[in-house]
Amino acid sequence: MTRISDEHNVSAPTPGRQSITTVIRPATYADAEAVGVLLASALEAKYRPTLGRRAAAALTNVIRDELRTPPHGYWVAERGGSIIAAAHLATAEDAPAVGLAQRLSQIIGWTRTIWALSALSILAHGPLEDDEAYIGELAVAAHARRQGVAATLMGQLDVHATALGKTRLTLWVTHDNAPARALYADLGFSERARRTWRVGRLVFGSPGALLMEKRLIASAEVSDA
Ligand SMILES: CC(C)(COP(=O)(O)OP(=O)(O)OC[C@H]1O[C@@H](n2cnc3c(N)ncnc32)[C@H](O)[C@@H]1OP(=O)(O)O)[C@@H](O)C(=O)NCCC(=O)NCCS
Repeated sequence: MTRISDEHNVSAPTPGRQSITTVIRPATYADAEAVGVLLASALEAKYRPTLGRRAAAALTNVIRDELRTPPHGYWVAERGGSIIAAAHLATAEDAPAVGLAQRLSQIIGWTRTIWALSALSILAHGPLEDDEAYIGELAVAAHARRQGVAATLMGQLDVHATALGKTRLTLWVTHDNAPARALYADLGFSERARRTWRVGRLVFGSPGALLMEKRLIASAEVSDA
């Protein structure tokens, strides 16, 4: 059973480990390094070819800056004092990203930064619609997978997006990411568009990506049903 402990935090007993609780909460400034390391490792196919071997440090430098000023869209799952999952939810109301290139270049240099930003633009979603909440990142630590962590975290993103007045969640997933595609199908996402790419295949090793969408049900609709 998932318990909502207050407006922002969700606690869920960890399946099979009843004494350890997993807490879902907005990320804080102190989480920056853990989130950067987790994203670099879990999303290695995206960040290693673009940001290089210093991907974790580069991501940490960017995320630290973003976490300085809430609301920043980062959510984490914490268990036993460690960050075991992270996600980012973006909306049309978010402040534009300022200083991203500079933060990256401080760690990986300008040449690599220019390469990374142009390669990562292949994966970009484009401007967000007013009714849309977009999941740009989702990662669970390898040792914590298949325990319902992503499903619980995504459930909290549903709640948060609905509270913001959004009616749909969107995300891109690469064709060959079978675990993530199974997760999204399980959670009720359906395919809206497909992208195939030649450059993306060379950089990210995947033939393309799918745009997935899930309609959100406002609590008023649930009680009417
Ligand atoms: C994809 C990912 C986020 C799933 O996280 P997770 O915490 O292991 O997922 P959950 O335990 O919540 O899984 C919920 C359901 O999704 C499906 N699923 C998740 N991982 C799966 C896998 N490896 N194979 C098949 N189905 C899977 C199952 O239906 C699962 O339910 P079940 O365990 O009862 O069968 C995780 O594997 C990950 O971080 N991968 C690397 C980063 C990544 O690819 N992020 C997504 C980018 S779009």
